[in-house]
Amino acid sequence: MKSLLKKTIIGTGKNGKKFDSEYWKEIYGSGLDVDGSYNAKQHAAYLHALFQLMEIPVYKIADFGFGKGILLREFTKAFAPVKVYAVDASEDAFFELQKKDWVKKSDKYHVFHSSLEDFKLAKLEKEPVELGICNSVIQYLPDSVLPEVMEKLAKYCNYLYFTVPTKSDYDEMRKEMQFVDPYAFERSQKYYRKLVSRDFEVVGYNLLQSKWLGEKGFKEEFFRI
Ligand SMILES: C[S@@+](CC[C@H](N)C(=O)[O-])C[C@H]1O[C@@H](n2cnc3c(N)ncnc32)[C@H](O)[C@@H]1O
Repeated sequence: MKSLLKKTIIGTGKNGKKFDSEYWKEIYGSGLDVDGSYNAKQHAAYLHALFQLMEIPVYKIADFGFGKGILLREFTKAFAPVKVYAVDASEDAFFELQKKDWVKKSDKYHVFHSSLEDFKLAKLEKEPVELGICNSVIQYLPDSVLPEVMEKLAKYCNYLYFTVPTKSDYDEMRKEMQFVDPYAFERSQKYYRKLVSRDFEVVGYNLLQSKWLGEKGFKEEFFRI
């Protein structure tokens, strides 16, 4: 495992707070009720089966905002990539991931402590990973940086396993679970669709295909939204 501590401006939430122990305790909680954590194995199995069907090989994975690394671990198990890049703005998340046995014992992991805004890796632009993960992260980034960050992700990976909660999702969580996330920006589905459509096409549930991939990838027009 190579650990790369980059001196950088670290991303904070809408409330100006860092993603430190308070965030993990008050907002994220145990993770047992969070989609992508309790069912991480099923997410990985779903995408692995879809990629097998589409005959898309995966040699490298990057997780943009890996958090507790639960989804990353399951994706790594399912796809067995030779290289894994993982970046997160949270210092707690950065140190915790490096303590994990499955990370420590392998030299395929390259873990970065950086905001997505500041994260730059020239070799990824030259040679993008086949699969990126950005699960429930960009709601924490301000409007001003989003187009640039999405373009970067589209250049750094061919496919992106992606989710973001919209304003209406937050309304639902407020109503159903009295859950409020003061770190997050609440934006409409229309806003995110427009943002994402500059650099990606939606080709499946939770799955974006980079427009920078050119003519390769999912061909059937009907499934490219
Ligand atoms: C809700 S958690 C999701 C974690 C993980 N992707 C998952 O699915 O379990 C949000 C993560 O985004 C990270 N994050 C927030 N803003 C960020 C930024 N600007 N750059 C990089 N990571 C950021 C947080 O530190 C946290 O780890």
